[in-house]
Amino acid sequence: MIKFKIPATSANLGPGFDCLGLAYTLSNTYKVEKAKKMLIEGCDKKFTKSDNVFNRAFLATMKVLKKKGSYHVHYEPTIPTSRGLGSSASVIVAGCMTANLLYGGKRKLSKDKIFQIASRIEGHPDNVAPAIYGGLTASTKLDNGTFYTSKFIVSSKLHFTALIPDFTTSTEKARKILPKVYKKSDAVSTISHSILMTKALQSGDFNLLKNAKVDFIHEPYRKKLIKDYEYIKKKIEKDGDAILLISGSGPTLLVISKDSNFYKKINLKNAKAKWEVRKLEIKK
Ligand code: HSE
Repeated sequence: MIKFKIPATSANLGPGFDCLGLAYTLSNTYKVEKAKKMLIEGCDKKFTKSDNVFNRAFLATMKVLKKKGSYHVHYEPTIPTSRGLGSSASVIVAGCMTANLLYGGKRKLSKDKIFQIASRIEGHPDNVAPAIYGGLTASTKLDNGTFYTSKFIVSSKLHFTALIPDFTTSTEKARKILPKVYKKSDAVSTISHSILMTKALQSGDFNLLKNAKVDFIHEPYRKKLIKDYEYIKKKIEKDGDAILLISGSGPTLLVISKDSNFYKKINLKNAKAKWEVRKLEIKK
């Protein structure tokens, strides 16, 4: 039996749509062993059929390894599902890791190879990259169809809190509502902001972060899918000590603050939905 953890992640981080991602110590634990027949336990029944993403990731990795075999996996899930915290990327990376750990032998695949397989299955690399490498990552799909990522260290001056609602959203729906064409000025602002965002997250320069976080590609469209968004945004940003972003495609909202105790002051009792306030630590 092998036990390992794969973290929760926040993709996008405002202007870094399908590119930036952050990894947290919040993670799912997976216990795996070789077996004659696939068995997935510890999660919702709907994730245990053979077309589930864990199994797809396992089989894709076995194909690359040129190996045959199956597995038992027992999930200990702590990442909320369908909330924009990268639970599906965690499961996909875990499926790849299971094949690699159980059947890789002396020819184990590199992290980059796992990143390529997992990104292909997820369709975009921004959750998968931090789930594998930790920290802050900037990733892209190259013209030749392969994926590329670069890792940055997040400043310890910044503090992260997830606001997790009691409702879910579908990533598919949250992608469908985005426009097909953008205004040049919106594209230009968002590109420049995303570059400054990586600098702000590395340096901990909070003033830079406040200017860089503004996005014109997805947040203006997706906020309509998130009940209480405007109410929470006003509350979090009113004194200028914290910023609010949509985590991935939502509905979880990510607060980045200067003060490590900011999360203790968050009071959302007048919101329409129920929101859990969860302090996060960056996985280095
Ligand atoms: N970049 C993706 C999106 C992350 O925003 O649609 C969600 O999986």
